[in-house]
Amino acid sequence: MVAIAIVYFSGQGHTHLMAESLATGVETAGGTPHLLRITGDQIVNGRWQDESILASLNAADGIVFGSPTYMGGIAGQFKCFIDAASATWFQQGWKDKIAGGFTHSGSPSGDKQGTLLYLAINAAQHGMIWVGNAEMPNPETGVNRLGSFMGPMGQSYLDMSGAPAKVEPGDLESANLYGQRLVAVANKLTS
Ligand SMILES: Cc1cc2nc3c(=O)[nH]c(=O)nc-3n(C[C@H](O)[C@H](O)[C@H](O)COP(=O)(O)O)c2cc1C
Repeated sequence: MVAIAIVYFSGQGHTHLMAESLATGVETAGGTPHLLRITGDQIVNGRWQDESILASLNAADGIVFGSPTYMGGIAGQFKCFIDAASATWFQQGWKDKIAGGFTHSGSPSGDKQGTLLYLAINAAQHGMIWVGNAEMPNPETGVNRLGSFMGPMGQSYLDMSGAPAKVEPGDLESANLYGQRLVAVANKLTS
């Protein structure tokens, strides 16, 4: 059974909901998901640190990186994690693991592509094998309604009411199907 780590930051909960749906997809396909949330309090004096998260990432067959889109790129908190994981890069510890990424933003474009491109570059630096999103856009179900093939995207307009985060069902389904795809690809590579 392949283990897929889902490491992500979420300020207001939307990216978290996508991560949970992705984890459900991993389970549906017979894999074991590990949800690993990056939080601001793991950053001490500007340096991210959490040995247990790093241990889970090192043990996984695949790693999916998730971040909301902030100013057209990944959130600063997530960048702190990525920079700290450069210690693993020195040993190429994640080489040949499968990798993927997802994001969520407030605007329909929101320059989300910048986030996914950066996540793919980071994976390439680690020698990982990037898996894209293979779902055809379906206006009826909303699956891949934003037409993103680098990885699933979600979008919800900014809600200042203080209500709990909500994500479009099609965006959640896209994340779920992506989780299933990651397990299928990981199974092929490990068989
Ligand atoms: C600092 C900051 C920068 C943001 N920059 C963008 C942006 O460039 N494009 C966009 O569409 N939304 C932007 N947003 C909105 C977030 O992407 C959006 O609220 C998203 O749902 C947050 O995900 P989360 O709930 O997982 O934190 C920004 C929000 C913050 C707080």
